[in-house]
Amino acid sequence: MSRAFFMRFLLAASVLSAAALPATPARADDGADAFRAACQGCHANPARLARRNSAATAASRAARWDAMLRTHHASDPVQRALIVDFLERSR
Ligand code: HEC
Repeated sequence: MSRAFFMRFLLAASVLSAAALPATPARADDGADAFRAACQGCHANPARLARRNSAATAASRAARWDAMLRTHHASDPVQRALIVDFLERSR
């Protein structure tokens, strides 16, 4: 998976979230909020989860998270992209 793919993934995610929330500028802690809402009830420590994804590059970690979380409590693509970004920053 290339860095270019990862950047397109992030761009698509930000375009989607901008479309979903036209009047709300993206906030730095949107990912933290999404994690709190979708994951924190069962996973108290995001850093611990984030470090378990040992794929070598940010792009390969993002692809892994995306594939896994699609069927694990984050089926919404916008929410999932925010959570993936938050987990990457929590490592
Ligand atoms: C209803 C409870 C619940 C929610 C909500 C939940 N999980 Fe999980 N999760 C589990 C359980 C139980 C396991 C361990 C068993 C399994 O693998 O299914 C697990 C396993 C995992 C694993 C793999 C095992 C590990 O510890 O490395 C990851 C990664 C993960 N969850 C991330 C998330 C993320 C991110 C979210 C939010 C989108 C989330 N989970 C929401 C219950 C939950």
